[in-house]
Amino acid sequence: MPKVSRVCASNVNSMTGHVDHGKSTLMGRLLLDLQVVDQRTVDRLKNEATQIGKSSFALAWVMDETKEERARGVTVDFATNYFETSTTKFTILDAPGHQDFIPNMIAGASQADFAVLVIDSSTNSFESGLRGQTKEHALLVRSMGVQQLIIAVNKMDTTSWSQTRFTEIETQMSTFLTSAGFQLKNITFVPVAGLTGENVVTRIGNTALWYTGPTLVSALEKQQATTRSIEKPLRLTINDIFRGGINNPLSISGRLEQGSLQVGDQILVQPAGETGHIKTIELANEAAEWAVAGQIVTLHLTNIDAAHLRQGDIVCSVASPIQNLMSFTAKVLAFEHVLPGYVDVHRGPMYQTGKVARLVALLDKASGEVVKRKPRIVQPGQVVRCVVEVEGKMPLEKGGRVVLRSEGVTVGAGLLE
Ligand code: GTP
Ligand code: MG
Repeated sequence: MPKVSRVCASNVNSMTGHVDHGKSTLMGRLLLDLQVVDQRTVDRLKNEATQIGKSSFALAWVMDETKEERARGVTVDFATNYFETSTTKFTILDAPGHQDFIPNMIAGASQADFAVLVIDSSTNSFESGLRGQTKEHALLVRSMGVQQLIIAVNKMDTTSWSQTRFTEIETQMSTFLTSAGFQLKNITFVPVAGLTGENVVTRIGNTALWYTGPTLVSALEKQQATTRSIEKPLRLTINDIFRGGINNPLSISGRLEQGSLQVGDQILVQPAGETGHIKTIELANEAAEWAVAGQIVTLHLTNIDAAHLRQGDIVCSVASPIQNLMSFTAKVLAFEHVLPGYVDVHRGPMYQTGKVARLVALLDKASGEVVKRKPRIVQPGQVVRCVVEVEGKMPLEKGGRVVLRSEGVTVGAGLLE
């Protein structure tokens, strides 16, 4: 077995926030200033973007690689990138902000330990984000277990680096985030301008003498790494499946949530119950002998029937596989009113149609104690214990996190009991 400590630290962040608030541009800026992509590449993208009248999107195009994303100027699917500073290795996922692509945001953000919530500080944009996905994304990442948040107050160039605007956003967001279950000591507000680059990697100089806090990169470096158990049974959520390579006809990639794996191991994929073997492993594009909880890995597989594998499936150990469920009890934070009725149940990239079958009890947010049995309706912000049924098998277990959505709206999110 790999000679590693009992637990493994990791630094996976996800960029979240309302559409067009500048997530991809900020990622592009980080990668440019940390020399992961070079100026020539960005200049080439700038030329191409200018030709279709989207020159301001050149840095976002570092992340937004598909034709559709570039033509529309929106991120559709999440993209993963790696970079390192002198002290820390990072994986950053750039999530889409548009409300049509929330399922992709859930798929991306469910892999992260930390989140950067990007907020456009310009006139009216912060306010429209609050009515849109700013709050929804914050609630979603909280429901996925993220406790530490960096709020990148972005596009500060459009406010002439106004301290008043920054403080206004900080005050309003702090009130909301505390009510959403975040602790203020775990939230860092950083004013930045992704497009022009101030305070991302390079400190803002004389333009904003009032700001004495960290740059975005130093705030990222200060995050307290989460620890994950490598001694628990293997669980890895498949985020991508690649078929038809000459040497590797079937490969999968995803986040190792718990446990470890090594070349030669036999694995079992749920819900289909397919088994296979790990032929080789890649970590951040380099070959590896083994991998542990917290890492994002690519596995090249053999002896497996690809026909039954889907994005969102769970790779586990043959000895202690995750069980498939058709019904479960969960503790759910209501984002909207919750009533018994039809919902889609999302677990990372996987989802099933189903229903909230029964509202068991309203719970006290802090203590978890029952405050009212059999409520008829749940108000936004309340926590409810409910029974959820799904139409197809879903691999789920105690402590697993699910998001309930209905007609394109997130109604709630919670934890399996
Ligand atoms: P989605 O992924 O579609 O949700 O959008 P996004 O949050 O990734 O935003 P994106 O990076 O695509 O940027 C949207 C627009 O905002 C582009 O025109 C950017 O040039 C502009 N923008 C981003 N950051 C800044 C900034 O710091 N200042 C200014 N002035 N504009 C910015
Ligand atoms: Mg984007």
